[in-house]
Amino acid sequence: MIIKIPALKMVVLITTIKLFTVVNVLAQTVIPVETANNAMVLQVAKNQDVNIIYFGKKLINQQEYSEIQRQYKQSEDYTLQLNSAYTSSGSRNLAEPAISVTHADGNNSLDLKYVSHQVKAVANGVSLLSVLLKDPIYDFEVTLYYKAYYNSDVVEQWSVIRHREKGNITLQKFASANLHIRARNYWLTQYHGDWAKEMQPEESKLTHGIKTLDTKLGTRANLFQPSVFMVSLDKPATEDEGSVLYGGLEWSGNFRTDLELDPQDNLRIISGINNYASPYVLKPNTDFVTPAFWYTFSDHGKGDASRKLHNWARNYKILDGKGSRLTLLNNWEATYFDFNETKLTELLKDTKKLGVDLFLLDDGWFANKYPRNNDHTGLGDWQENKQKLPNGIASLVKEAQQNGVKFGIWVEPEMVSPKSELYEKHPDWVIKQPGREEYYYRNQLVLDLANPKVQDFVFGILDGLFTRNPNLAYIKWDCNAVIYNAYSNYLGKAQSQFYVEYMRGLYKVLARIRAKYPTVPMMLCSGGGGRVDYAALQYFTEFWPSDNTDPLERIFMQWEYSYFYPAITSSNHVTDWGKQPIKFRTDVAMMGKLGFDIVVSRLSATDLQFCQEAIKTYNSLKQIIWQGDQYRLANPREGSVASMMYLDSAKTSGVIFNYLVNNRYDEKSRLPVQFKGLNPALTYRLTEINLYPGAKSSIETTKVYTGDFLMKIGFNPIVNSGRPSVAIRLDAVK
Ligand code: DGJ
Repeated sequence: MIIKIPALKMVVLITTIKLFTVVNVLAQTVIPVETANNAMVLQVAKNQDVNIIYFGKKLINQQEYSEIQRQYKQSEDYTLQLNSAYTSSGSRNLAEPAISVTHADGNNSLDLKYVSHQVKAVANGVSLLSVLLKDPIYDFEVTLYYKAYYNSDVVEQWSVIRHREKGNITLQKFASANLHIRARNYWLTQYHGDWAKEMQPEESKLTHGIKTLDTKLGTRANLFQPSVFMVSLDKPATEDEGSVLYGGLEWSGNFRTDLELDPQDNLRIISGINNYASPYVLKPNTDFVTPAFWYTFSDHGKGDASRKLHNWARNYKILDGKGSRLTLLNNWEATYFDFNETKLTELLKDTKKLGVDLFLLDDGWFANKYPRNNDHTGLGDWQENKQKLPNGIASLVKEAQQNGVKFGIWVEPEMVSPKSELYEKHPDWVIKQPGREEYYYRNQLVLDLANPKVQDFVFGILDGLFTRNPNLAYIKWDCNAVIYNAYSNYLGKAQSQFYVEYMRGLYKVLARIRAKYPTVPMMLCSGGGGRVDYAALQYFTEFWPSDNTDPLERIFMQWEYSYFYPAITSSNHVTDWGKQPIKFRTDVAMMGKLGFDIVVSRLSATDLQFCQEAIKTYNSLKQIIWQGDQYRLANPREGSVASMMYLDSAKTSGVIFNYLVNNRYDEKSRLPVQFKGLNPALTYRLTEINLYPGAKSSIETTKVYTGDFLMKIGFNPIVNSGRPSVAIRLDAVK
C-alpha cells in the first residue's frame, strides 16, 4: 500500500544576500504545514528561533513563502519573537508566552531553539510534523506537534515538554498551541451562557492587548464559556464569504485562550489548559503532553469552515462518527424522581408504541439509605432503590426486550451527595477544602478523580452495570456540579496539579470504559450543555446541548452549536418546554439525533399519530441529517425565518427545515430562501414532510426546479403564523 504524504512538505530554501561584494549564503529552513487549501508556515530563523511566517490560504509556489516577511513594513519587533511558534518567557520575550517555567535552580528563563524536525504519514491524508526545540543553557526541551488532515483542512497542534534537570521543575504555563496571523482586522466570535442559556454568540473587533477566553469551573467547564471560537480576518465573515478561523481545545476541564493583538497589529493566539492555580511540577525525564488545539480555516465563509470541520469530526474524532444512533424516549421530564417499576413498565410499552429504538431511564433509580427521591441525596450509592425497583435494572432490561425496545440508563458517576453512604464511607474521596465550610452546586460535591481509587470506583459503576446487564444499550453520563473548594486529599502537597490530574483521571476512566465497551452509545450531558469538546467526543457518541428544549430557543442554540459540531452529535429531545405545537417541536428535534421526553399516554390521538409518522420519516432521512453537508440558509438572528438544510454528498437528496422565529403581526417568509450546495444542472422535486394529520401542504409537488433556480432565486417554503414550521424533502428527479 502506498501512503501519500500530501499534507506536509519540507522545503529548504537558500536565500542569497549580497553585502558589498561579499556573498553570504544563509540557509533558512522553511516548514510549511499544508492542507488542501491552507498553510501555516514555520521558518527557522538565523538565530535558530522557530517562527511563523505565514498563516492563511496556501500559495501555489512554496518558494514564495520566504518572500512574505519582506512585504511587511510594520513597526519593529524588538524581541524578534512576536511571531514565535511557541513563545517562551523570561528571556527577551515581552508578549504573552506559550510556556513559562521555573527551573530546578529557581531560574525563570527559557529560550527555545530549533534542533530538528520530521514529518511522518500517520494515515492516508494525515501527516504529523514534529519540531524539536531545546534551551541552550538548561537541559529542557519541547516538541511541537502539528497533525494535518489534508482533505478537511484541519490541523491539531500540541506540545510535549520534558527535561533532564537535576531536580523537579515547575511549569507555570504550558500551552498547546501558538498561532500568529496577519490581517487588516480581526473579528472574534465567542460564546457565553449559563444553565438553559448555552451558546450565546458575541462578535467584536479585537483591539490591542489581550482578550482571554477561559474557564475555571473544573468539571462543568463550559457552563459560562466554551473553548470554541471563530476569528474573521479583515472583516466579519458571513456564511459564504470571508476568511475565518475556527478553533477549540480538546480538553474538558479548565482552558485558556489568549488572543493578543500585538504592537505590530498582528494577532497572536495562544491556547491550552488554563494555568490558573495550576503550576505543574514536572520530574526529570517525564513527558508533559498538552491536549490538542484544533483549528480550521476557510476563505469561503463560516459555512465552508463548518462543513470541513464536521467531516473531520465524523471521520477522525467522534466515537462512531460514521455510525448510527438510537432514537429514544427519556423519562426525566415525564416523571422526574417519581416512578416505580409499574410506571416504568408502562413507559416501556409507550416507547414501543411511539416507535423509537430505546427507553432511557433517567435520574432517581438508585440509593437506599438515602434514596434518590430528590436532588439532595444518594449520588454515589449506585445500587437500585429497592422500593422503586424491587426487581432491579435487570428486570427492566428484560421487560424492554420483551417489548422490542432497547434499554439505557442515566448515571452521574463523578459526583457525590453529602447525604450518601459513599460520602460517609469515603469522605477523603470528596473534593473539599479541609476545615472549610462545604459549598454545593445542585446540592452535591465532586469526587476526586485524581485519586486512582476513585477512578476504579467510577469505572466500577459502569462496569458493574454492564456486567450485570449485558444488554444495556445506552448511557447518559451527567455532570451537574462545578468544582468549588478545589482540594484533593490524594494529591497532598501537589494541590496545584489538581485541575490537570482531575481531567487526566476522567480520561483514564473513559479510556478504560471504551477499551471494554467500545461501541455502546453514550451521551455526554452536563446539567445541560456544560461540557462538550473534541476530547470528550472521542469517548461519547453524542452530547446534550442544553436543558432548555423550548424549540424556539433551541433553533438559536442548535444553530450556534452546529458551526462546531455535526448534527449526529446533537441530542435533541421533544419535550413540553415552549408553547409550540408538537410538529414544531419535533421538526426542531429532528435537526440532530431525535429523542422524546414527554408523557406519551397524554398525547392526543393525532399528536401521537403525528409523532409515530415523524419517527418513520426521520428514520428515512437520518443518514442525510447525520452524514450530509449542512448548509445554513436563513439565520434566525437576521430575520423572521430560520432555515437549515442537510444535503447528501451526491447532492441528490436533502432536507430543509424552516421556522418562523418572530411572532409579531404578519411575520412570514416574504422572500424565497436561497438553497446552497445543489448541482445547478440537476432538477429537484420538493415535498413537504412531517405534515400534521389532516393538514394540507401549501407546496405543489407537481412542480420541479433546477438546482440553478433554487440557488439563484430560491424557494419560498411559505412559513407564517399558520405554518410556523415547514420541513421539506428535496430529491433529484431522474
Ligand atoms: C440534568 C440533565 O441535564 C437532565 O437532562 C436530567 O438528566 C437531570 N440532570 C437529572 O438529574
